[in-house]
Amino acid sequence: MADARVHKGVIPAAGLGTRLLPATKVVPKELLPLIDVPVIQLAVDEARASGIDDLIVVTSRGKEILADHFDRQPELEAHLRERGKLEQLAAVGDVGAGVRFHYTRQPEPRGLGHAVLQAAAHVGHEPFAVLLPDDVMLGPRPVLAQLLDHWRPGFAVVAVMRVAREEAGRYGIVAGDVAPGSRAFRVEHIVEKPAPADVPPVAWAVMGRYVLDADVFDILETLPPGAGGEIQLTDALAELARAGRLVAVAYEGERYDMGDKLGYVKAIITHGLERPDFRDRLAAYLRSLADAGRF
Ligand code: UTP
Repeated sequence: MADARVHKGVIPAAGLGTRLLPATKVVPKELLPLIDVPVIQLAVDEARASGIDDLIVVTSRGKEILADHFDRQPELEAHLRERGKLEQLAAVGDVGAGVRFHYTRQPEPRGLGHAVLQAAAHVGHEPFAVLLPDDVMLGPRPVLAQLLDHWRPGFAVVAVMRVAREEAGRYGIVAGDVAPGSRAFRVEHIVEKPAPADVPPVAWAVMGRYVLDADVFDILETLPPGAGGEIQLTDALAELARAGRLVAVAYEGERYDMGDKLGYVKAIITHGLERPDFRDRLAAYLRSLADAGRF
């Protein structure tokens, strides 16, 4: 019988990050920081705050330093301790604390569905969460925890956000709608990157948080390549939607695509304006730019 609690998570981090080249030529895009915290660490923190204590990161050649980031650094810790830099010591000690990490490789970037499939042996028969690290979620409550509130064994849950028709072609788009006073709805069907003509003026788009049942691996294994010649997670979700087993949650919070140049800048500015350590100075600086007619 399936464990009624979700405690395992998968972080796909094997993509090439081509939209951020040349920054991502050597540095994995998952390690690019939102100011001072790498985006993958934000995903790990969100998972931990949602009750996940076991994470498998799907990496690829050249991304070994992702594992280094979540390992201990005794020399650095001793250095900070000796100099009384206790705040920094606590920040370093907190990286990934309370989570067991595992790593596996995706030999080639054959798509998100294929990346998730690489975690099958580790996940076994349990339900599990998937967090895409370049989708940074800033909300009043961890977005994954919001999804878990609506998860039941045998169902899959996806995070959705409203997007304009012109943007729909970048996402998986679900059909269905929230009832008044509710945040969750049963998905009737889902399509990856639809043409604008096929979507309503405002559509529900899937963002990078999922709770899945282990039987999704059986579906992924049999899928032919979909949009872009890749094994699409959306195509597996479409099969679950057809079986009435897919739920969408219109989560509370903001989402930034840190894998996109403009999304990256927006996230830094918005998050910077929430940081007590320098929000006033940043706000004053932005005002001075506006006053000087720079935008
Ligand atoms: P993206 O499509 O945003 O990542 O996938 P990408 O392919 O690296 O980006 P661009 O378009 O070339 O800039 C979302 C997440 O899925 C992972 C990525 O690492 C990212 O965290 N992913 C994607 C894989 O692990 N394997 C893949 O084959 C594709």
